[in-house]
Formats: sequence, C-alpha cells, structure tokens
Amino acid sequence: MIFPLYQTSMFVHQAVGLDTAISYSRVSNPTVDMLEKVIGELEGTPPAVCFRSGMAATTTLFLALLKAGDHVVLTEVIYGGTMRLFREVLDHFGVTSTFVDTCEAANVESAITAATRIVFIETPGNPTLKLTDIAAVARITKQHGVLLAVDNTFLTPILQKPLELGADISVLSTTKYIDGHNATVGGSIATRDEAMLERLRLIRKTLGTIQAPFEAWLTLQGVKTLPARLKIQCENAMALASWLERNPAVERVYYPGLDSCPQKALADRQQRAPGGMLAFELKAGLEPTIRMLNALKLCVRAESLGGLETLMTHPSTTTHADLDPELRRRLGIRDGLVRISVGLEAPEDILADLEQAFAAAGISAAQTTPKSNASSEVSREVR
Ligand SMILES: Cc1ncc(COP(=O)(O)O)c(C=O)c1O
Repeated sequence: MIFPLYQTSMFVHQAVGLDTAISYSRVSNPTVDMLEKVIGELEGTPPAVCFRSGMAATTTLFLALLKAGDHVVLTEVIYGGTMRLFREVLDHFGVTSTFVDTCEAANVESAITAATRIVFIETPGNPTLKLTDIAAVARITKQHGVLLAVDNTFLTPILQKPLELGADISVLSTTKYIDGHNATVGGSIATRDEAMLERLRLIRKTLGTIQAPFEAWLTLQGVKTLPARLKIQCENAMALASWLERNPAVERVYYPGLDSCPQKALADRQQRAPGGMLAFELKAGLEPTIRMLNALKLCVRAESLGGLETLMTHPSTTTHADLDPELRRRLGIRDGLVRISVGLEAPEDILADLEQAFAAAGISAAQTTPKSNASSEVSREVR
C-alpha cells in the first residue's frame, strides 16, 4: 500500500557489471524515483528531478544551464534565497541578472539582452500576491529564444500548470504544499525537455543535491492529500479574505479570489483556484500590528507556508526586512501588512482567533465584526 523506504546509501551488485542501474543514493534511489514519478504526473511531464531543498533545485538549475557571460531576468519580488543566489554567488562566476516587475510583460521584453538565457518568474508574488501573466511572458521568451522557468511553489501544479501555459520549466519547493505537513525540506524541477533532464541529473550527482530517501518517503505520504488540502485551504482563504475585506480596521486585502482584486480575470484564466495564501493590511501602524500577531493563540507566527496550520508572517520586519525601504514602499510592503498561509482549521476558529487578537492589540473591537456574526458569515460562505 505504501511505497517502501530504501534507506540505504548503496545497492549490491549480484555480479561485476550486473544490475548497475541503481548503484548509489547520491545518483538515484527507488524512493526518490517514485516521488519524481508522482511529481512528473502532477506536472504533466516525464519524471521530475528531486532535490534536497527548493534552493538546491534552483541552484542546480542555474549551474546546469548557465555559463560565464550569461544573463537572467527575474521577478523583482522573488523568494529572498533566489535573489541571494544571483547577488552573492552567481555574480562571482560572471553571470548577470536583472530584476523587473514581471506583472507588466513588456518589462520582461525590455530587460532581455543578447546574453539572456533564462527568464525566471514567481507568480503569485510574495507577499502581495501580484500575478504575472505566464502565457504573455512565454510568448515573449519564445520570440527571443530564451527559456522560461516558473517557481510555482505558492500554487503547485494542482492549481496552476506553468508548462501548459507555455513555460519550459516548473520549479517547486516541495517543503511547502507538496509535503504539506512541515516535516521535510525539498525541491523539484519538471520539464518536457529530456536533454535538460539528463543534464540536471548529471549536475545533481556532481553537486550532491539529490533528495534524501526518508524525506522523499515522507513527501510521498504528504502529497497524497494535496488536492484535498488545497480545496479546504482555498475555501478557508476565501472566507477569511471576505471577512477581512468587510472589516473597517483593515485597509486592504490581497487575494486573487476577491472581486475587488484588479487581477481577478488573470487569476481566473491561469489558475484553477485562488490558492491558500493571502495578505491584508491593517490601518493601524507597526506597534498594533505586532501586538495583534503576538496575541494569536491558534494561528502561529512562522515564516514558511503551505502546511496544515494557519501561519502568519510580518513581511516588513522579517522576510522582506532587508529590502531597500523605497522598494518596500513601492511594493506595498507597509508596516501594517500581514501575510497568511491558511491552514485546515475550522474557519470559524481562525476568525475567532483573529478577532481576539485584534481586540487584545487594542484595534477597536467596535471596528471588527461581532463574534456572533463572524461565525454565521463563515457558515454561509463555507459550510
Ligand atoms: C517561493 C519559494 N521558492 C523557493 C523557496 C526555497 O525553498 P526551500 O526553503 O525548500 O529551499 C521558498 C522558501 O520559502 C519559497 O517560498
């Protein structure tokens, strides 16, 4: 019923030169192979290539495809580790990069030079969930003979299939929704290009960035419930976003499922559902926002995402604290902004926790929806 865990570094050959296909777990391992098959099926590609972390996947991808003198165009609000890879590692090897607002596809075209090899985008963007039109960017990259890679960690191939929209490569941090239980760290790369898959496996075995068997085995258990988890997470996120949007203490809500979202039409076109991530901005400034976060009892303060539990993050003092203040302002990362990775708890429990945290932080109770109403609204929206 459950695929076995091959917790071994090596495999015995019955005779010299016999059964050498599986030999050493830095090269391949049957448990990792099975995870690669499952992720490939989700992506609609041959078996994916799995890595020890999302960053191991991204690093191996760029080391496999780039050489000195090459140039990459990236989304400006990209995962911090990806930005660090370009600004503090690949730049030492003569690789250059340009970070642009990819939500305007024209910005991608303007940034492409004769040296550009890859456009690497993340959509929805973190933390304000701004979307990039994958199909529009894919038309541009095809015209220029450049590869398009999408970091699809926030949605997974259940909710968005980058390769069907014209991208060449899909990257996932499996640490998040794919595992879904906050038990492992991992990453994957999927593509239909067999030669690229072969090159990725060669570079992976050289760098030693392959996923470990136990992590692959745990991820295989987690991924079985991915569609069911995402369904509940999307329903909970929609209920939460609607409640927050009606709350007078809230300045704005960022969620692609809301009619008020300026990119809702694009979300409806390229995503199967709006996803389990949302963000909101409190009218109150830094201090009340921090007090509210510290008063949470059910929801936890943590910087990851995609697990069973509802997590809240304060981007301006944590994930995005290192950004230039001017860029932070332009991106809408204000002191009252809170990012939520919505979990599988009963939605009325998440709302009750938010309500009590608002009250504890001195965000006027009169400004929030009365508790009795909160539950009945959830009943109507979700149940
Ligand atoms: C969108 C995105 N991509 C990549 C990564 C890196 O993944 P990992 O932490 O598994 O190395 C993260 C981690 O937070 C992420 O949020």
